[in-house]
Amino acid sequence: MSERIVVNEVGPRDGLQSQGKTLTVEQRLQMIQALLDTGIRSIEVGSFVSPKAVPQMAGTGELFVRLPMADQVTYSALIPNAKGYELARAAGARSVAVVLSATETMNQRNIRMSLDRTTAVCLELMQQARRDGVEARAYVAVAFECPFEGVTPAERVIDLTQRLFEAGADKVIIADTIGAANPSAVRRVLDPLQRFANEGWLSCHFHDTRGMALANVLASLEAGVREFDSSIGGLGGCPFSPGATGNLATEDLVLMLNAMGLETGIDSLKLVNAVRQVQELTETPLGGHCFRWLQRQADQEASHA
Ligand code: COA
Ligand code: ZN
Repeated sequence: MSERIVVNEVGPRDGLQSQGKTLTVEQRLQMIQALLDTGIRSIEVGSFVSPKAVPQMAGTGELFVRLPMADQVTYSALIPNAKGYELARAAGARSVAVVLSATETMNQRNIRMSLDRTTAVCLELMQQARRDGVEARAYVAVAFECPFEGVTPAERVIDLTQRLFEAGADKVIIADTIGAANPSAVRRVLDPLQRFANEGWLSCHFHDTRGMALANVLASLEAGVREFDSSIGGLGGCPFSPGATGNLATEDLVLMLNAMGLETGIDSLKLVNAVRQVQELTETPLGGHCFRWLQRQADQEASHA
């Protein structure tokens, strides 16, 4: 089995947006370079949102213009509305991701629009991106549980996903914003969407809040999903979603996928350096479940070199 899996790094967006320390554009670029050095080639580099709502993401326009050139790299940006889309386009973004939360309250808290209104806006933006030749990505957030409304009905997530694809979405990312999913719940959402997974159109975004992120990845792999979000060192959370700590750590995801013989193009030992650099930049202790072990391997390799 040497199938290709896309690991989409979201540390520079999902990771940094909830940090107490706001990084400068220069520091965000250093972080992105450290990620590129590991072989990562798909990165969500920031968001075009109100700087009043998320000050950590101010300057994403400038960041885009200064992004490092690299072979075969995809840089995407999260956008909450039409204004975000315009800003992303003006900055030269070739890939954008809208956020449609599957519950009423989460949309209100996150982007101050009703579920119906957000759905309409997201569908429109998917069509618009298609017309403009921009990669159209869409998150279905709080896809398993909402911090305000409890368990999210799987049927609603499935319905929203289908509508996004009908509108022209290239990729829908099923997002467990607060890390409340489990492998059975994952299968309940993904099995009816299998035909989209088989086309390579589905991605999953897990948080490791309850330690089940990798189990959920395995369930998704079995359901045909071939793309996953993760965040270096497990950095992250959503500032509008109480309890949304720690993303699935990129090193945990990559180590497991590589060990399973799946191809990520990412060198797990090189991730140690990236975790260390991001730790310094954010002044936050980081590291997934495997980090200590990985550090020992990397240090041993360095001492033999
Ligand atoms: N980027 C930058 N500024 C934006 C913007 C965007 N995408 N959308 C709106 N704004 C600005 C408006 O121009 C306006 O600016 P002003 O006060 O200087 O006139 C201000 O934000 C308020 O605009 P309004 O349309 O009334 O927005 P709002 O106050 O209802 O907030 C959002 C809506 C979507 C802009 C805001 O809630 C937001 O940015 N949320 C992002 C949440 C997020 O990133 N969550 C984590 C990722 S899921
Ligand atoms: Zn997240």
